[in-house]
Amino acid sequence: MRVNRLYIQDFRNYKEAEVTFCPGVNLIYGKNAQGKTNLLEALWLFTNAKSFRTAQDGEMIRFSAESATVKTGYTAFGRDQTAEIILNTGKRKLLRLGGAPLEKTSELLGQFPAVLFSPDELHIITGAPEVRRRFTDSAISAFRPAYYGALRTYLRVWKQKNVLLKNTPEKEALSVWNEQMAQSGAKVMQYRKEFFSRLAPLAAEMHRQVAGKEEYMEVSYAPSVPVKETVEMQAEALFAALEKKRDAEIYAGLSLVGPHRDEMKFTVNGKDARSFASQGQMKTAAVSLKIAQGMLLEEETGEPPAVFLDDILGELDEERRNFLLSNMHGRQIILTCTERDAVKVEGETRYFHVEDGTVCIST
Ligand SMILES: Nc1ncnc2c1ncn2[C@@H]1O[C@H](COP(=O)(O)OP(=O)(O)OP(=O)(O)O)[C@@H](O)[C@H]1O
Ligand SMILES: [Mg+2]
Repeated sequence: MRVNRLYIQDFRNYKEAEVTFCPGVNLIYGKNAQGKTNLLEALWLFTNAKSFRTAQDGEMIRFSAESATVKTGYTAFGRDQTAEIILNTGKRKLLRLGGAPLEKTSELLGQFPAVLFSPDELHIITGAPEVRRRFTDSAISAFRPAYYGALRTYLRVWKQKNVLLKNTPEKEALSVWNEQMAQSGAKVMQYRKEFFSRLAPLAAEMHRQVAGKEEYMEVSYAPSVPVKETVEMQAEALFAALEKKRDAEIYAGLSLVGPHRDEMKFTVNGKDARSFASQGQMKTAAVSLKIAQGMLLEEETGEPPAVFLDDILGELDEERRNFLLSNMHGRQIILTCTERDAVKVEGETRYFHVEDGTVCIST
């Protein structure tokens, strides 16, 4: 996917701006708090239909304005396309694709494939297990829509069982719920198993390339119950594990085992990344992971995603930075940083200077 053009009006600190990107590397630079991230936020709306910074669409409307408009012209799946989003205070946002209104927000998903890396993404490594599960769930849903259904079923059963557990249930009653948890949970686990088996080699290779040969990263699925070959075997194993914990769960008053407790493990040079990796190593690992996620999506859809990098250059040394930007294999990059000369880029590059909500192409 290639973004050709972005137009914004009354969006964050921009009254009006238009940006024309090049197919290669686009470097947006400027001092702090000038509006660099705001541009990536506007673009990301087309990928995700919501901001990566706020759950409140209204926050993106310029102070004192009533509505904000964001438009783009882009090339994806072999053709030129346009999309438009209008945010209104206190109302639902309006979406248009190729000029035609979209009824549901979800219709936009998949149209504007991109991967985003913002400093918050480091939480995938340093944050709580929920952050990693959220990453996993959204990454799998993006290329296996049926996953979302299986997960919802599992979480519904899990919640109902937790209500039961709070009221000191009969053991037999619990087994009925365990059976249902095992059936839906096994599907969730099998999707996760497939996802990690494909993601891991891509992420490891990306990390090796960015960091150099001396350093290797591994990411793996760490489920709360061992993975099995088939869904049926998985359901059996999960049911057995749940039954084994039955007394402990009644005692604890909550459900102790199953996919809601799954983890994802990162190691750098064989050591747990969270405890032993440096900031730069963690950043390299997190960026590699996000790019690998994009590559997986590309394998599925045939469309290379654009790469949006918000402020990732701090903490990566010059070698890692330059490597990262020179080896995207033709994918478009749009990145923000504070210094114009923060990176040496080979190939086509366009520079944009941002100051107080104004963007100028700089030569
Ligand atoms: N709804 C809004 N209306 C007007 N201005 C806003 C709105 N939301 C945020 N801003 C302003 O946008 C600016 C921040 O923009 P942005 O996050 O893009 O900065 P940045 O250039 O990425 O800075 P940094 O280098 O610190 O990351 C702030 O000055 C903030 O006050
Ligand atoms: Mg910023």
